[in-house]
Amino acid sequence: MTSHRARNAADLSRLAQRKPSIDEELLDSPSDEPFAEAVVDLSAIGHNVETIAGQTSAAVMAVVKADAFGHGLLPVARTALASGATWLGVTSASEALTLRAAGVDAPTLTWLHRPDEDFGPLIVADVDVSASSVAHLRGIAASAARSRAARPANVHLKVDSGMSRNGAMPSEWPALVTAAAEFEREGWLRVRGIWTHLATADEPRRPEATRQLSSFDDALKTAGAAGLAPDLRHVANSAATLAIPESHYDLVRVGIACYGVEPVSGRTYGLRPAMTLSARAILVKRVPAGTGVSYGLDYTTRRASTLALVPLGYADGVPRNVTPDARVWMGGQRHRIAGRISMDQFVVDVGNTRVDMGDEIVLFGPGDRGEPTASHWAQWADTNPHEILTRVGPRVARRYVNADPPIGGRQSEAIAAVDPMNGNEPTTDRESAHG
Ligand SMILES: Cc1ncc(COP(=O)(O)O)c(C=O)c1O
Repeated sequence: MTSHRARNAADLSRLAQRKPSIDEELLDSPSDEPFAEAVVDLSAIGHNVETIAGQTSAAVMAVVKADAFGHGLLPVARTALASGATWLGVTSASEALTLRAAGVDAPTLTWLHRPDEDFGPLIVADVDVSASSVAHLRGIAASAARSRAARPANVHLKVDSGMSRNGAMPSEWPALVTAAAEFEREGWLRVRGIWTHLATADEPRRPEATRQLSSFDDALKTAGAAGLAPDLRHVANSAATLAIPESHYDLVRVGIACYGVEPVSGRTYGLRPAMTLSARAILVKRVPAGTGVSYGLDYTTRRASTLALVPLGYADGVPRNVTPDARVWMGGQRHRIAGRISMDQFVVDVGNTRVDMGDEIVLFGPGDRGEPTASHWAQWADTNPHEILTRVGPRVARRYVNADPPIGGRQSEAIAAVDPMNGNEPTTDRESAHG
């Protein structure tokens, strides 16, 4: 095939031979390295899950919703399951079915659904679903009848014990458990779990969690009186797992702690942040004192300075609304962000530090080298570390390190096969890059 592209390449190469100014090395091997990447240390995830499992006799659910908080659904799910988690938690049918399509068959719960959704594929794939209303139960029972699955749907009934988010209100609960018992008798579903979520577990001095636990116990009694005998009662998120042992019941649902963020304010449990977000400077320039930088020119250099251009912006999840305290790590020190963060890029004022094009800039990581952490960014952007991690966008390549067993072969193929960002090509040299 003598393609248009190949002809162009031949023309260019002839041109280059006549033009000595063209860099021979670049002609032969232009870089295909990503200029920004999120490196995910799977051994940190394994360590965190083991640490959590060591704190409880309850079963551990690794919450891997939202692409495992931005870390990558499949590598994280597999690592968590190899490190002591026995359940996986997601919010949508597509996440649960992506796990199943990749061969991950561990018990999985999904919990955000329209009542009239087709739950059939989830029932067939043996994925447990949450119900917070009689309308949801009807939808699940109808899907079970329609899908002719060989098994009843496994359902976890959710009670709102005081957070006023998802879950049935205590006033609605008796009707919900009565309907569930009825559908259970008819064989459409089995109530495998009863659960709730805590609003204030990360602030253990507050009294509301105790009240929520008491409301949950009342809900369990009502369910028992309706004839339900679920295997799994579950309440605790990361913070409750680490700080409120009486919330553990049969299963704990752990999200942010798996990713290495300490969930309880003022306490540390030896968790290790798993993600390092970095980029390469794609332009470096020297500017005089008094130079305005970026949109609005509302940052001005105080002295002659070197500015480094970072190819990441708010479209990649770098928060635009950070305080002037925000720093990145480059050349062994933290440096100030100069001016506003744009959609795809921002500028760092490194003063007189020697930096070159191609040098690494770390936005956040575990903090071992002095770089900021996701928790620092959360402070600077007045949000939580969950949002900082989850918003790292699909343009940022993910690279997995310290996988055990190493990622490659079956695992990278499975990732490539189910991840639309990777097309259908198994990734090879950068094993499991997204986007
Ligand atoms: C219902 C539910 N359970 C558990 C979790 C995990 O919470 P955390 O990340 O605080 O451990 C979440 C996360 O948002 C959740 O929505």
